[in-house]
Amino acid sequence: MSMSKQPKQKLVVFTGAGISAESGIRTFRDSDGLWEEFNISEVATPEAWQKNKALVLGFYNKRRQQVLNASPNAAHKALVKLELKYDVHIITQNIDDLHERAGSKNVIHLHGEINKSRSTVDENLVYPIKGDTIKLGDTCERGSQLRPHIVWFGEMVPMMEIAYEVAASADIFIVVGTSLVVYPAAGIVDYVPTATPKYLIDPHEIQVHGLANLKFIKEKASIGLPQLVNELLNTSN
Ligand code: APR
Repeated sequence: MSMSKQPKQKLVVFTGAGISAESGIRTFRDSDGLWEEFNISEVATPEAWQKNKALVLGFYNKRRQQVLNASPNAAHKALVKLELKYDVHIITQNIDDLHERAGSKNVIHLHGEINKSRSTVDENLVYPIKGDTIKLGDTCERGSQLRPHIVWFGEMVPMMEIAYEVAASADIFIVVGTSLVVYPAAGIVDYVPTATPKYLIDPHEIQVHGLANLKFIKEKASIGLPQLVNELLNTSN
């Protein structure tokens, strides 16, 4: 009788700015959030880009510096440990690379990546950012101004369909560090099968309507996630 290794269960994690908060990266809608200090329409929309490229580039150069100076925290590292037992897929709204720097293998960035730039004549031309700034006059191989490889408000979310498919095949689903108010990303929870056990980790009350099989863990990510990961690593199945 050959020993057949059980296929690993698929564990999908949907993360937002809250998982990087304890790494020193600001969230958006907490009391000290980024959108308290900056006006979205001036720095994070296509219209802002047309109106004042230098201001937009400066905004993301500052955020990139923050990310460079930050390190993954216990929450990011706990997700890596899950890969011992589960087929882990991370779908993040975050533009930082802390999941990758912690060692996570499968990361989908719905809203882009701070460490990449993109051509403004061909969105398939994406480049790693050497050093830490994009400046006016930095051009792609076809001579157009480079822009941050970020999805701005009002732009399409190219990875959304793939993310829905991943969520629809989840055996376990974890949501951590997101206010679930920005669509289409937040709509991902509606694609998770009803029977799939779901966990939501957030220090504040999050309004989640009509999600079956949901366990709410009212904790910061660096406390709640390692606890949940230890539970999931020690279950029998
Ligand atoms: N641990 C876990 N969660 C935390 C922590 C923490 N230490 N600190 C704050 N949070 C929670 C907040 O309670 C909130 O629910 O993280 C969430 C952060 O919500 P937002 O600031 O709205 O961030 P996010 O949900 O990721 O925003 C979604 O909006 O601005 C756009 O594109 C941007 O990807 C972003 C999207």
